[in-house]
Amino acid sequence: MRKIRKAVMPVAGLGTRVLPATKSIPKEMMPVVDRPAIQYVVDEARAAGIEHIVFVTGRNKGAIEDYFDRAYELEVTLRDKKKHDLLAKITSEVPVAGSTSFVRQQVPLGLGHAIWCARDVIGDEPFAILLPDVLVKSQTSCLAQMVGAYERVGGNIIAVDAVPMERVSSYGVIAPKSREGKLIEMAGMVEKPAQADAPSNLKITGRYILQPEIWGLLADQAAGAGGEIQLTDAMARLMESQSFHALEYDGDDYDCGSKIGYFEANLAYAIDHKEIGGEARALLEKWCQDVDKSA
Ligand code: G1P
Repeated sequence: MRKIRKAVMPVAGLGTRVLPATKSIPKEMMPVVDRPAIQYVVDEARAAGIEHIVFVTGRNKGAIEDYFDRAYELEVTLRDKKKHDLLAKITSEVPVAGSTSFVRQQVPLGLGHAIWCARDVIGDEPFAILLPDVLVKSQTSCLAQMVGAYERVGGNIIAVDAVPMERVSSYGVIAPKSREGKLIEMAGMVEKPAQADAPSNLKITGRYILQPEIWGLLADQAAGAGGEIQLTDAMARLMESQSFHALEYDGDDYDCGSKIGYFEANLAYAIDHKEIGGEARALLEKWCQDVDKSA
């Protein structure tokens, strides 16, 4: 079984749901407490053994490439001012040289097309995809849980989570066949179904382990839901010849592409933050009491 060494992170999206903030900052660079959202996703990938990340970018996303580079002027200034803690903070998160690649999706044709743009850099090996809009807060990295499942059953693995039926039309949704604990053998999947047509309430969370045969299918995938080339449609075709399992991972996910999800992510990471966690919890409790009193 080939090890999962590489991951794709599509970061070309316009971030329209959090405009105007994303007019001049990539949505992936919006801070969650004190780190850009994308740093949490990179940490999740690294904790799962990923050695190389391919970012699929678009215009106005240069800040992401700069963030994952050294910042010499800032480093010299911090060193001169003897701010060693801050210096360690900004240098420790820079990826090893040569372990990131950036490719452009020139036209926003959909998630399936964005992933396809990474085909030459990933090549002929199984790989992971992490959608950086979604942060998954968990004891064990969500992707590491999936790699564990992959090492048991091989094939293709998708992370899923139950949502209320009213929300299924916002997601890719799977049809389960059989279940062994948290691992579900899949019978099908569909992108953004109407509630009445949804095969279950298990939504695709934005973490995938896929076999390289997906490349040929993405190459000629027709547009689907929303007029976009959908990864889900290409995966549904791959399922005709390969095994697909869904993993109900342990952890909570936050959709930072939406205002409320971004707000909740900030709360969730703030109350566990090593510097401000205690104060953040106390503040939240006070707010809740004040709201209760004024109700
Ligand atoms: C994408 C995927 C969808 C998945 C979702 C998770 O949709 O196409 O299958 O459920 O991410 O966040 P998007 O949110 O880009 O519309």
